Amino acid sequence: MKANPQTHKIHLKSTQSQIAFGRELGHLLLKHLPPPISLKIAVLGEVGTGKTTLAQGLGYGLGVPETQYINSPTFALLQTHQGQIPFHHIDLYRLNDASELYGLGLDDLLDQGISYIEWPQRAEQILGESFLLMGFEHDWDEKTGESLGRTLTIKLIGHHPYRDDLDLALKNLCQMDLI
Ligand SMILES: Nc1ncnc2c1ncn2[C@@H]1O[C@H](COP(=O)(O)OP(=O)(O)O)[C@@H](O)[C@H]1O
Ligand SMILES: [Mg+2]
Repeated sequence: MKANPQTHKIHLKSTQSQIAFGRELGHLLLKHLPPPISLKIAVLGEVGTGKTTLAQGLGYGLGVPETQYINSPTFALLQTHQGQIPFHHIDLYRLNDASELYGLGLDDLLDQGISYIEWPQRAEQILGESFLLMGFEHDWDEKTGESLGRTLTIKLIGHHPYRDDLDLALKNLCQMDLI
């Protein structure tokens, strides 16, 4: 019997490494998910922990043209970028009530491509039962108060038919040396 998915962890010391990691994650998802690709990513972390920065790299890794600026969709709630597959960047920070999402046809939209959802706690039902959980933390030097970059944790939640292969790829990704 295969083991349950593990929690993978990586330290990213700069904005550049945060973007580079997102880009590698995008390549990995294109390579390891069977088409038609459909995956939701639940993105947890306080303001300033690098969630949107990683989204930029992820979008480019999924083939969004680098001329397209991927910024925070906080005011639009949802921004879809077209890469090799759709990349839905969602930020629910300003959502007052989960019912605001009803009737937008989100379920069908998010079934296609990669959905990167910041602040999913605001409307948990958007995630369904299977998703990739990514947690972001800001690291500080306790003595000097200096910023030491960010730590990411990643874990597959729920049932994914390709789970073992993807889990191994994520493990290897988190052991990579990034700039
Ligand atoms: N790994 C990192 N190390 C240092 N700074 C980072 C890192 N990742 C992101 N940043 C910086 O942190 C700031 C906040 O990033 P942002 O992606 O907007 O956070 P969030 O979307 O979580 O609020 C930006 O100035 C960004 O350049
Ligand atoms: Mg953000």
